[in-house]
Amino acid sequence: MQGIGVTGAVSPALLQEEAVAQSAAGVMGPGAVPVTLTLNGKVVKVTVEPRETLLDVLRNNLDVTGVKRVCDRGTCGACSVLVNGKVMYGCSILAIDVQGKQITTIEGFALTNGKPHPVVEAFVNNDAQQCGYCTPGFVVAAKAFLDHNPNPTSDQVKDGLGGNLCRCGTYMGVRKAVLEAARVMKGGSRG
Ligand code: FES
Ligand code: FES
Repeated sequence: MQGIGVTGAVSPALLQEEAVAQSAAGVMGPGAVPVTLTLNGKVVKVTVEPRETLLDVLRNNLDVTGVKRVCDRGTCGACSVLVNGKVMYGCSILAIDVQGKQITTIEGFALTNGKPHPVVEAFVNNDAQQCGYCTPGFVVAAKAFLDHNPNPTSDQVKDGLGGNLCRCGTYMGVRKAVLEAARVMKGGSRG
């Protein structure tokens, strides 16, 4: 802090000046601050500390529990969400940084017009889950993948979902499910 003397004594006036300067520069925190998110098509307001991840805010503050915490360090994909349609790990982004963006969790599309989304239905049809802990993240990633790759091969599904891990080893079921969902979303049959 510029202006602090060698004695180490900090005057209250100086601290106040620092606080005003930080505020003018747009610095937030370290205490809780109001944040506005666009979540599954709705505007929600929440008060969080700037250090809190989107994953924590969704689960702990907004009761959105489809996003799962497994590794909490950006390696497994269990916390996958869509941010402006792109898959991101909720544990690796801060809630304050996604203000003004469209955030979609599995709760935002699992039921569409009262019916299961084709990707959700295909996961059920193909036994693409065991413990199910990784499943919402896979479904979110699969939906985003199919939005951009409506006619994938099995190898492309494997590569496209490479950011999601399943400890139970349901990869074959997941690939079959995504291929089935691709057929159904184009108006074809399940089989
Ligand atoms: S919990 Fe976020 S990537 Fe694993
Ligand atoms: S179904 Fe258990 S971790 Fe994937």
